[in-house]
Amino acid sequence: MALTPAAGSGCNASSAPPPRNQSPKQVNSEIEWDRFDPQAYVRHNYSALRPDDREILCHIRDFFADARLSDSRCVDVGSGSNLYPVLPFLPFARSVELCEWSASNVRWLRSQIDGYDEVWDPYWQVCAEHPSYATLLDPRGRLAQIGRVRKVSVFDLPGHAWDAGTMFFVACSISAERAEFDRAIGRFLGALRPGSPFAAAFMLGSRGYRVGPRWFPAVELRSADVEASMAAGACDVDFHEVRPKPPLRDGSLSMLLATGRTRD
Ligand SMILES: C[S@@+](CC[C@H](N)C(=O)[O-])C[C@H]1O[C@@H](n2cnc3c(N)ncnc32)[C@H](O)[C@@H]1O
Repeated sequence: MALTPAAGSGCNASSAPPPRNQSPKQVNSEIEWDRFDPQAYVRHNYSALRPDDREILCHIRDFFADARLSDSRCVDVGSGSNLYPVLPFLPFARSVELCEWSASNVRWLRSQIDGYDEVWDPYWQVCAEHPSYATLLDPRGRLAQIGRVRKVSVFDLPGHAWDAGTMFFVACSISAERAEFDRAIGRFLGALRPGSPFAAAFMLGSRGYRVGPRWFPAVELRSADVEASMAAGACDVDFHEVRPKPPLRDGSLSMLLATGRTRD
């Protein structure tokens, strides 16, 4: 994914980032998530499979294939209008829950779950390059059978409810407050049973992003911030940094993928 980055300090879900010298840090509850435009987001980020997303998808495909999951209850948190983080669950899942807070994204997810658009076929083809996935011939039908969309905030997730989880570009991109980033990571890891495999992705160095005409804030992070925030709830964590190709407008941005297990 390639969230269009900020030129200034992004704190408002309005049409433009506020200037640096007027940047009250906007918290998650102040942002108009129901005005998030899922179609614009897909068009900008996922309508063509980018090499950076392919690299991340290969990693999570291999990670979940090696994780010895079977008949598992899986969750993706803050799904937005991106289906690729749930595809690597399909051969190993009894159920897949897509948890999202924005009403417009929930509507989009519900429209996709019964038969997702062709735009996601190249993403599944990447999964199917691995023998554990190649035997699943109807991923679209499988998601329709086991997928369920829930309107729930990351901050209200139940504890120890799932066996495996993904959370992509959420903790970093739902607020300008560092404390909310830490809390979102804690709630995500706490929603998984002890020892559960997870994959989480983060934008590094971003102050916000545009979706259609609207502006959403982000917490400007370095990889050490992500590592520190995960330490209490996760173990065996591997970090993999991916530089978007072609580069984003602000060449300093990169994406960080974390894979690991929740602590006992
Ligand atoms: C940058 S988007 C990431 C979407 C998608 N996971 C992806 O990989 O592209 C951030 C997502 O977090 C959702 N979100 C915002 N606040 C949330 C909350 N409190 N709980 C769960 N999701 C939330 C937004 O609606 C949006 O879909």
